[in-house]
Amino acid sequence: MNYKVPCILLLISVSLYYLLSPAPPLSDEQLTTHLKDKVVLICGASSGIGEELAYQLAGHGAKLVLVARNQDKLDVVKEGVVKLGATDVQTISFDFSDVKGSSGVINQTIAWFGKLDYLVSNHAAMPNFAFLGSPYQQEPDFIERIFRVNLFSHIELAVHALPHLEASKGHMVFTSSMAGEKTSYRMAMYCSTKHGMNGFFYSLQQELMARESPVSLTMGAFGYIATKDLSQMMAGEGIKIPAWATGDVKECARGMIESYILRPPTMTYPKLYAYVNRALWYFHPSFHKTMIQAFKHPGSVGNGYQDSLHAADKKHEKAKELKFQQGYGPNEGEGN
Ligand SMILES: *[C@@H]1O[C@H](CO)[C@@H](O)[C@H](O)[C@H]1NC(C)=O
Repeated sequence: MNYKVPCILLLISVSLYYLLSPAPPLSDEQLTTHLKDKVVLICGASSGIGEELAYQLAGHGAKLVLVARNQDKLDVVKEGVVKLGATDVQTISFDFSDVKGSSGVINQTIAWFGKLDYLVSNHAAMPNFAFLGSPYQQEPDFIERIFRVNLFSHIELAVHALPHLEASKGHMVFTSSMAGEKTSYRMAMYCSTKHGMNGFFYSLQQELMARESPVSLTMGAFGYIATKDLSQMMAGEGIKIPAWATGDVKECARGMIESYILRPPTMTYPKLYAYVNRALWYFHPSFHKTMIQAFKHPGSVGNGYQDSLHAADKKHEKAKELKFQQGYGPNEGEGN
């Protein structure tokens, strides 16, 4: 009898099971036991994943420091968090394009609470449009600003958080993306900063392990998470993401909170999407072209590689440019 085929099938099934099965979930009680009175600093807390994290952590009795640019939005989140029972919650309005000033949010956290248990470095700017079609995106000041927000400020936060996290045997989580592992059409700036993030923080992870540091670090490898802002943005672009490739913001935040306790090196979410995406990327030669077709928005012409834009595109880009002049991104609290 030929055992080859059943053996290979078995191997594939077991691999798929381990790849796709969720980590053993922690109960609400377990989370509360671990998180009660822990001091958590959430950067990028006014919307998206950061906002959801604040609500869930409040429910488990954590002490929170919420950071984002917009104080009005922070006040709304704070109100929600207090309703959920949080008694110790502070907010800081801060723009992370100021790299040197970034450590100030850690100093302020220590001044308020005397310690730091978890750093959630989750803020990001997300320019998503053709680099060659948007002259202002090619300006050195713009490029530098995106790198300051998405990469340099995260490094600055890690440097200044480490001594405090060593004292508390704490943990840090950095919101990265599938865009940190492979490229993504119309996201050159975002991809390059997220690749930088992966390069830096996976190296830092190795150094921490080599030093047997009590501090651990989780990288969030996230796909498309349907936050309010991102869903609106996708709808505006006329892009439909299938359900199997769409992550739920509540589930994502829950996984991140569990990662504070389980401390895995990477948290991949949504899993099925990520593994299919990675496999296609490496093994399917025409996948790049397929992606470009899928993300080409209505009204655009050509094969997507062209740097000249159709009139409809130009209008679209103009609206985005105006938005960016008012701030660094449409989805401030996002990691994705
Ligand atoms: C935060 O504190 C550290 C250590 O005292 C200091 O080096 C750094 O300059 C402070 N950050 C800010 C923005 O004041």
